[in-house]
Amino acid sequence: MASAELKNIMNEAIARELKVSIQYMFQHIMIKGKRARFIGSELRAIAIAEMLHAEKIAERLVYLGEIPTTTPKPVDITGTEMEIIQKDIDEEASAIELYKRIIKMANDEGDSTTRLLFEQILAEEELHHQTFQTLLGE
Ligand SMILES: [Fe+2]
Ligand SMILES: [Fe+2]
Repeated sequence: MASAELKNIMNEAIARELKVSIQYMFQHIMIKGKRARFIGSELRAIAIAEMLHAEKIAERLVYLGEIPTTTPKPVDITGTEMEIIQKDIDEEASAIELYKRIIKMANDEGDSTTRLLFEQILAEEELHHQTFQTLLGE
């Protein structure tokens, strides 16, 4: 079975997924300006994807005998359009880094199901990262 360290870091992943799900959804609700419709719909779609990540990780954690957290990391919806997109780029970059660590840990522990789950989620986080970079115009 998975180590306590792996289960703890998976709970950290859930807390972050819950955070970004709320953050992106409320950025979508509150965003103003000329590009608000377009950016808002991207934010909304990604917010829903992040909630589905939280669901999948929580399901796996329950299977591993751990109670999943329901507490998000602190949500931040402040800033101008460009500032919020930059924050979201940073969120995706740190998710990518965290999930690479989890994939390595799961692999080292011979937990191929957890490894595969996070490989699938990682691929989506890389697309989110790219989408936000495009929205910023980079
Ligand atoms: Fe995610
Ligand atoms: Fe993401």
